[in-house]
Amino acid sequence: MAFVNVSMGNPYATPHVIRPFEYPPPDGYETPEHPLIGVDRHFRIAAALQQAHPQLPLIGSGYSYLQEFMLHAGAANVRDGRITVVGVGRGAFAQPDFVHQIRQHGRLDRKRVCRTFSYCTALMRSKNNELGQFATGCPPFDKEIYGPIWDKARGKE
Ligand SMILES: Cc1cc2nc3c(=O)[nH]c(=O)nc-3n(C[C@H](O)[C@H](O)[C@H](O)COP(=O)(O)O)c2cc1C
Ligand code: SF4
Repeated sequence: MAFVNVSMGNPYATPHVIRPFEYPPPDGYETPEHPLIGVDRHFRIAAALQQAHPQLPLIGSGYSYLQEFMLHAGAANVRDGRITVVGVGRGAFAQPDFVHQIRQHGRLDRKRVCRTFSYCTALMRSKNNELGQFATGCPPFDKEIYGPIWDKARGKE
């Protein structure tokens, strides 16, 4: 096995566990805990697994809630041996060129940082088309592709 991505929770039943968020999805799911508790849970469990298997490349999750600071936290986790690779989920939907931005400018493009609006979660939770759910991405920052899909999903709701 080349690497393992560590994630947790269930996107349908416990989205706050898998993706700590600031703004609930429009279907009204509210987080029962502060999102930083969720980020901490991701970091602690991934670190425990990494420290139990130091030779296995593990990819951590749950960084996107930290927005502009996600890669600072990631760098600290890598430095401290708490993870091998920093995985970026929502932050990559919102800003797919985030690595290029960091390399070129030393920071993310602030206009396209994932703000954890949860639209991507809402799209994947809208299970009412022939494929079971809508294709998901970032409607706020990828309007061309996901704007029309978002409109369709909301219309169906
Ligand atoms: C729209 C969407 C779909 C996802 N689908 C999966 C999936 O199929 N399997 C999985 O293990 N994690 C899935 N995830 C969870 C991510 O792997 C990751 O654990 C989570 O987004 C937290 O990382 P982040 O804070 O960088 O977004 C999904 C996340 C999003 C936003
Ligand atoms: S829809 Fe875009 S901004 Fe909102 S949480 Fe998903 S990736 Fe982030």
